[in-house]
Amino acid sequence: MSLILPNLPRVPLIQTPTPLVPISGLAAAIGLDELMVKREDLSGFAMGGNKPRQLEVIMADALATGADTLIATAAAQSNFCQATAAAAAHLGLDCVLLLRGRPDAIVQGNLLLDHIFGAALEFLDTRDPYDRAIPVRLSEIADSVQARGGQPYIIHLPGRTGALAAAAATGQASELHEQFIAGDGPPDVLYLAAGSGLTAAGLILGFKHLNIPTRVVGVSVQQAELFLKPLIVDRANAAAALLGIDTRIDEQDFDIVDDFIGAGYGIPSPASLDAISTAGRHGALLVDPSYSGKALAGLIAHRRLGRLTNHTRVTFVHTGGTATLFAHADVVARHLAAKRAGGA
Ligand SMILES: Cc1ncc(COP(=O)(O)O)c(C=O)c1O
Repeated sequence: MSLILPNLPRVPLIQTPTPLVPISGLAAAIGLDELMVKREDLSGFAMGGNKPRQLEVIMADALATGADTLIATAAAQSNFCQATAAAAAHLGLDCVLLLRGRPDAIVQGNLLLDHIFGAALEFLDTRDPYDRAIPVRLSEIADSVQARGGQPYIIHLPGRTGALAAAAATGQASELHEQFIAGDGPPDVLYLAAGSGLTAAGLILGFKHLNIPTRVVGVSVQQAELFLKPLIVDRANAAAALLGIDTRIDEQDFDIVDDFIGAGYGIPSPASLDAISTAGRHGALLVDPSYSGKALAGLIAHRRLGRLTNHTRVTFVHTGGTATLFAHADVVARHLAAKRAGGA
C-alpha cells in the first residue's frame, strides 16, 4: 500500500488505510457540492487520532535503542502524550509524561486516559511548548531512569522524533494517493489542523513526491504562520532525508493560516464550538475544540468568505481529538444550549 514508508521500520499500531468517505450532509451545511473526510480519527488505537500513526515509526526507533521507558512531553490534554502512554502499555514499556499545566488539572479527557494507561505524570507550569525548562527537565527524568538501571527514550518533537513523525505521516499521503485513484481523483484542496505541523509536513512531502496536485492548507492551532511554515519545511525535508528520497519541499508548496487560533492553544473559540455542533448535527462527526474543530472552523470560514466555491473539491483530514471534547464538556454544553435557546 505505502509507496514511501517501507524505507522505515514500524511497529504496527493502527488499522490502515483509514477511511476516506464523503459526508454529504456536512458538505451541504457548509455549502460545498462535495466534501470527503479522511478519518484519521478512526485510526483504531486508543482514541489517539493521528498520533498513533506517528508513534508506529517512533516506537520502532525506541525499541531499536533497547528502551524500556518512554519519556514524552506536551500539554496536559495532549493526544500525543495519551497515545504515547497507550503505546507504552501496549508494548510493555514504562512511560513518564511531562505535561504542561498544573497538577490540579481536572482528570478528564486525555488526562484520564493517561492515568488509565498507567503513565507516571509530572507537571510543568508553562503554556509555552518551546519553554527552555522542558528539555532540561526531560534530561533530568532520563538521568533518573538510567540511575535506576532503566533505558530511557525521550520523545521530544523538536528533535529526531519530529523527523520520524513527519516521515510516518507520509504513509497517510500514500493511502490518500490510492484512495484518490480509486475514487474521483485528487481534490483541489485538503484542510487539516496543524499543531507541531508534523502531520502536515508528511502530507505535503508525500503529495509532492507522489505528484498529487492537491493544495494542502494547514490551519494552525497555536503558532503564527511565519513561525510554523519554515518549521514544516525543515521537518518535511529532514523526513525526506530519513526516508532516502530526493524530493524536497519549500514554502511555496502549501498554505498555513493562523487566524483560527482564537484566544490561544487549547482554548475553545466560538468558531470551533460552532464547528463542533455543525459536524455533529450534520455529519455525526466528533471534532474537538483544540484541533479538528479549529481546522473545520477554518474550512467553514473560507467557504463563507468565498475563498472556496461550492464547486471546490475539498478533503478534510479529521485528525481526531475526541477525548478532549470531554475535558471541555461544560463549555461545549453551554454553547449548544445557547444555540438552542437562540433557535439556531
Ligand atoms: C487531534 C489532533 N489533531 C491535529 C494535531 C496536529 O498534528 P501535528 O502536531 O502533527 O501538527 C494534533 C496534535 O497534537 C492532535 O492531537
